[in-house]
Amino acid sequence: MHIGIIGLGRMGYHMAERLLKAKHKVTGYNRSDEPTRKLARKQGAIGAYSIEELVSSLPKPRIIWIMVPHKAVDQVLSQLSDHLQTGDIIIDGGNSNYKETLRRGDLLEKRGVHYIDCGVSGGLVGALEGYCLMYGGNAGACKKLQPIFKALAKKGGHGRVGERGAGHYVKMIHNGIEYGMMAAIAEGLEIIASGKYKDTNIKALCDIWNHGSIIESFLLRMMRDGLNAHPQLKDIKPYIAESGEGRWTVQEAMRCNVPSYVLSAALFGRWRSQQKNSYSARAQAVMREQFGGHAIKKKK
Ligand SMILES: NC(=O)c1ccc[n+]([C@@H]2O[C@H](COP(=O)([O-])OP(=O)(O)OC[C@H]3O[C@@H](n4cnc5c(N)ncnc54)[C@H](OP(=O)(O)O)[C@@H]3O)[C@@H](O)[C@H]2O)c1
Repeated sequence: MHIGIIGLGRMGYHMAERLLKAKHKVTGYNRSDEPTRKLARKQGAIGAYSIEELVSSLPKPRIIWIMVPHKAVDQVLSQLSDHLQTGDIIIDGGNSNYKETLRRGDLLEKRGVHYIDCGVSGGLVGALEGYCLMYGGNAGACKKLQPIFKALAKKGGHGRVGERGAGHYVKMIHNGIEYGMMAAIAEGLEIIASGKYKDTNIKALCDIWNHGSIIESFLLRMMRDGLNAHPQLKDIKPYIAESGEGRWTVQEAMRCNVPSYVLSAALFGRWRSQQKNSYSARAQAVMREQFGGHAIKKKK
């Protein structure tokens, strides 16, 4: 098949490479030129230096995969919009909010353009081992895209999960779970690093746990690799970024009245890590001082 990819960042570039390896043809476009130039040097790839160029290089009906941050999707769609025709298929492979996906899809489907939402998991490792893909949208369009999904995915790691929005919805929950699992691993390791057996080789322990234990996991593997790259985490600031999905998961849990202790605690843990001067911690310290005369620590 011949597919266009908009956004050749950490994910899109490697996805393009994976498709090329599977003998698909790829036209790549990136906002800045360098990734496009790099991709264009590969066999089977075409570099496009504008959205118009990308669209005109594709056979009709076109298949175009967008792999940009969710905040940039509307901008990309508005640039694409004038060039699209009935029967074209657009796939948003980024972590977009499913509500935005429903809105965007409504607009495009009215014009006969299929809008498929595809959650992609696997990060940078997925480039080598295959991604996990969960997609929603028109069943016929998803069927047509099977060779693309198959080339990108790990064996058995892809499927249509429902109507439009369902792919991004389950990816949102997937990432919410990811927050919780990461926090659980990190907290357990911190207890070990602070406790009676604090000299335990944590990197080696991650490896041991990853051979047959109940908590054997991709994340433990990433933890071991992270400790390889950053011994004892000495050069790492205690700041955890978030890109939206964990927050949306908790909002959805509230909307559905689902008690989600772990996922919300993990989200709040990230927010706490981003605070330099927690108001809440200072407020609690000052209340203890006022009611019990407990010592407070003053800023220097
Ligand atoms: N990284 C992961 O592990 C991972 C895993 C699954 C899903 N995702 C999702 O995949 C999407 C892409 O992530 P990524 O990690 O590949 O991000 P990235 O490395 O930051 O790349 C972002 C890409 O989007 C382009 N872009 C940004 N703003 C744009 C705009 N306004 N108009 C046109 N292009 C724009 C960038 O172009 P420039 O090069 O010109 O800046 C770049 O090609 C995101 O939705 C992310 O949440 C990421």
